[in-house]
Amino acid sequence: KILILDFGSQVTQLIARRVREQSIYCEIHPYSMSFEKIKEFAPKGIILSGGPSSVYDKDAPHSDLGVFDLGLPVLGICYGMQLMTQQLGGKVERSDKREFGGSSLQLDDVSDLFAGFDGAADVWMSHGDRIEEMPAGFQVIAHTEHCPVAAMKDEKRHFYGVQFHPEVVHTPRGDEMFGNFLFNICGCEPTWTMANFIETEIESIRRKVGTGRVLCALSGGVDSSVVAVLIHKAIGDQLHCVFVNNGLLRKGEAEKVVNLFSKHFRINLDYVDASDRFLEKLSGVSDPETKRKIIGNEFIYLFEEEAKKIGKVDYLAQGTLYPDVIESVSTKGPSAVIKSHHNVGGLPEKMNLKLLEPVRELFKDEVRLLGKELGMPDEVIYRQPFPGPGLAIRCIGELSRENLDILREADAIVIDEIRKAGLYREIWQSFAVLLPVKTVGVMGDARTYENTVALRAVNSLDGMTADWVKLPYELLGSISSRIINEVKGVNRVVYDISQKPPATIEWE
Ligand code: XMP
Repeated sequence: KILILDFGSQVTQLIARRVREQSIYCEIHPYSMSFEKIKEFAPKGIILSGGPSSVYDKDAPHSDLGVFDLGLPVLGICYGMQLMTQQLGGKVERSDKREFGGSSLQLDDVSDLFAGFDGAADVWMSHGDRIEEMPAGFQVIAHTEHCPVAAMKDEKRHFYGVQFHPEVVHTPRGDEMFGNFLFNICGCEPTWTMANFIETEIESIRRKVGTGRVLCALSGGVDSSVVAVLIHKAIGDQLHCVFVNNGLLRKGEAEKVVNLFSKHFRINLDYVDASDRFLEKLSGVSDPETKRKIIGNEFIYLFEEEAKKIGKVDYLAQGTLYPDVIESVSTKGPSAVIKSHHNVGGLPEKMNLKLLEPVRELFKDEVRLLGKELGMPDEVIYRQPFPGPGLAIRCIGELSRENLDILREADAIVIDEIRKAGLYREIWQSFAVLLPVKTVGVMGDARTYENTVALRAVNSLDGMTADWVKLPYELLGSISSRIINEVKGVNRVVYDISQKPPATIEWE
């Protein structure tokens, strides 16, 4: 396995992705990880990430110098390279000018790190400071027009530094450079596969749980679904799943979940149809935050009720993913509450249960691979994100059964058309929103006065920022005419072309 020390770069997670794509396990830890902990981790190599600092900053982050005494290969990327230079006795030139963007790398040495290359490679640069004098023992292995030391190595000690960013897509052959570092230089074996992961994780779940019982809240989303199937494979009927239909799900969703988990995978599943209760609690409520709070609280309440019926349980299973676990150095800062997200985060403390989080070391795309390996259908594995409060926050203003039905039908058409156009997997989210606005239309010779549906389709990497998708006009056209023709009560469709920020993805 490989250790990545994080100096706060925005793209540190991409380094981990690139390493794991080579079937090698790695973890990201803060640069301040202690020497003891590093030794205990026992990596086969260490990667020092980039970061926003200059080694000359007063509080420039430093890792323990011992990193260089372990006899392990080290790859420094950007700031990581500069720090390595400074710590090993070289000189970094301070510069206020930034080199930013694509650059053509001229290779002076095509052995080890650049094995398989012939002379040049396109790379992505983003740095201010640069290497003026390499530490003793180092030689230049690549340069660019503006950067005499774009890559360097100390072959004896297996220390490598690159000024560019091999982890980003703008460095097209970055994966080969990582492969060279991992296989040729660190001597790693490509053993991190999903088949292996399943095997070891099943063992570990069995060991941990023993004869205990595990409770899992299924949402129908990919994370909790994969977690349920994985745990079921390990402990069978010791797993109990609860699935609450809050009446705010999409068309056919509840049936699909019940069929897949109960009938296909034969998992113990409590299906609770609480649509009436949720709708009652929500009646007359139009404030978005109040809606969210009611739905969140009601869910916890119902879930606890169901858990009581099941009897004594020991663990609560959760689909926590690696990005939530990484103690990233990039300070996210305290942020204002924009929306109170509803998930099962509050449950474990309330219920006094231990947590079972079998995918906490995985990235989202690895969870999808895992689901595939476990024989789950693509429809679940590649599902677009769907918020906990469901259609309630897409039906603007007060909810009614009638409005929810209209939205459900319109939404099904959006998904169907996007799928038919082959865009479903490419788009982060695509859905319909029902507006509390009636407008005038004409149908045949008669005047209509009906609802407006807004269409939302966005692309995003993590939901934090998003841009609207430039859907083809023909597709927009067919979505619009199908909704207006097939959904009773709608006579107008509009397209939401706002970015996040300042808009958000969901309307409430
Ligand atoms: P916003 O609307 O804040 O949404 O731009 C960002 C992402 O989060 C999803 N979302 C939620 N997910 N529970 C969830 O599990 C929630 O309460 C919730 N609210 C928003 C939203 O769909 C988008 O992907």
